[in-house]
Amino acid sequence: MKAPEFICQRFAVGLTRFSNRSVKSGQKARKVQQLTKKFKAIISVCLPKVFVCHKLVSRLRISPKKKQTNMMKFILPLFMLIASCLGSPVSQTRRFPSDFLWGVASSSYQIEGGWNADDKGESIWDFLTHTHAEKIVDQSNGDISSDSYHQWKRDVQMVKELHAGTYRFSLSWPRIMPGGYMNHVSTAGIKYYSNLIDELLRYNITPMVTIYHWDLPQRLQELGGWTNPEIIPLFKDYARLVLEMYGDRVKIWTTINEPWHVCEHGYGVDYMAPSYNYPGIPAYLCGHNLLKAHAEVVHMYRELFQPRQGGRIGITLDTSWPEPKDPNSAEDREASERAMQFYVGWFGHPIFSKHGNYPKVMIERIRNLSKEQGFGARSRLPEFTTEEIHRIRGTSDFFGINSYTSNLVTSNGHNNTGKFPVPSFNHDMGVVESQAGVDWPGSGSVWLKVYPKGMYNLLMWIHREYNAPEIIVTENGVSDRGGLEDYARVDYYNQYLSAVLDAMEDGVNISGYIAWSLMDSYEWKAGYTEKFGLYHVDFSSPERTRTPKISARVFAQICKTNTIDWSYRPKLDDEQQLVAMAQLPAEEQMARTSGASGAISWSLTGLLLLALLR
Ligand code: BGC
Repeated sequence: MKAPEFICQRFAVGLTRFSNRSVKSGQKARKVQQLTKKFKAIISVCLPKVFVCHKLVSRLRISPKKKQTNMMKFILPLFMLIASCLGSPVSQTRRFPSDFLWGVASSSYQIEGGWNADDKGESIWDFLTHTHAEKIVDQSNGDISSDSYHQWKRDVQMVKELHAGTYRFSLSWPRIMPGGYMNHVSTAGIKYYSNLIDELLRYNITPMVTIYHWDLPQRLQELGGWTNPEIIPLFKDYARLVLEMYGDRVKIWTTINEPWHVCEHGYGVDYMAPSYNYPGIPAYLCGHNLLKAHAEVVHMYRELFQPRQGGRIGITLDTSWPEPKDPNSAEDREASERAMQFYVGWFGHPIFSKHGNYPKVMIERIRNLSKEQGFGARSRLPEFTTEEIHRIRGTSDFFGINSYTSNLVTSNGHNNTGKFPVPSFNHDMGVVESQAGVDWPGSGSVWLKVYPKGMYNLLMWIHREYNAPEIIVTENGVSDRGGLEDYARVDYYNQYLSAVLDAMEDGVNISGYIAWSLMDSYEWKAGYTEKFGLYHVDFSSPERTRTPKISARVFAQICKTNTIDWSYRPKLDDEQQLVAMAQLPAEEQMARTSGASGAISWSLTGLLLLALLR
């Protein structure tokens, strides 16, 4: 075996052995495994090249007397190895599958505006922002927002420019049923989404429709919203109508976006509409009704629509990853696991686990604490009947997950060191979360710090916990405070997508990734102060002009090539460049990006050969 090949192989084997040994030592194992993978990828690309180079050099008839030149026989292949590896698009070896679903997302209240256009009814967000503007950072509202009620054709063009095959958007219940009931269905509302869906299909973009993304009709809130069991048949009526109207054209549905946010942030604390700020009780009622409503819709879809329409339906859950503050502390690791069971398991366990129902740790903790707090035998967490447990279990064709960041977690001390209200969700969970002292890069939102490893950990957890379900990352992205040169967002996507790839390489079944968000929009209580868009929206222009940011070009490249190209950092120029790029066939694009470094390596090789021949 020739020297360079041998060296490469020994190194790979050594690294692999070291990696296998250190698996037991837990902590560093993952890092070393990743290194090994990367090294193997380099080897697989470079080894054939060095072999050819070495053969070439060996064939050159060099006088055996010339010692120096003889040395070159070994040195040259080494140089050539470095030169050819420099130009090797190693990222090609970390390709997403060709059928990977790429998408971008938005939600109705955040982008549509047209809050009272035609006969649209009032939503809980209209009500909150109009009656309590002081609760919104910039006292703004979504009355006009990005004006997608009028600019929807441009939105579809943008999805196309991004090469995203899927557009995930949500339907506004009060736009379709102004009062939440069947007695009044808005023709204009039905038509708006119908047009949008047709336009998407015209561009070959798959519509992925969320039936509920937080904008409940205000009239239903006046009946108690999700805390009133009456919401179950009402949600079913609304869902039946939209499945009937759009199901011939929409093949991916999610029922509800982020139940944890709907219930805890809506009812437990004063954060999202309806801002109940009533800890420890209504959030659990909300969750209970929401799970049943979701299940009823999925059963209805499977019975009445799926057989003839052939689509899929699921749910989107959310969490930040709870990283144990001290990974060597059993208590912190337990806190992390408990946080996952409370955030994801609350809704995930009833739907995706083998036996259904709420997670055991939730049932027991809330029952015991309720007793201690004088609630008697009745837990604040309602109980499902056996029949209900069976009816809810298995009601999702895929696992939709939204995640943006991570927290460090520890256990809440017995004397409530976290100072949580009693009772409350946080007190029940018994976990203190913080990002204090971490060196993770920040963003435009106080709660969002960049820790890609958290995404990997989260995906691995879902995979293990629920027996390898198909996962779609239905939201992931980062905020800033504005501007088109959003290189921090480029870094975020590259890093988080690498973490997704790591999880896929470790066996997690991830079929899609949807970036949040297509464009800047109304960021709930942060108003317009935090921007998540791939497209900038000029909120002061009457037509709400949209302009691609740098990240839009990079994300378009990722969707188009199925790879992450770390070296691709375009500069700002005419926004038309993006449109022009959309015309290029995939191969040409690939050649274009790997071309520069490839050219350097081959000219270096040529120079070395020339030097030798002289
Ligand atoms: C929500 C989006 C929101 C995003 C960023 C997600 O939890 O689904 O509506 O804009 O987070 O805060």
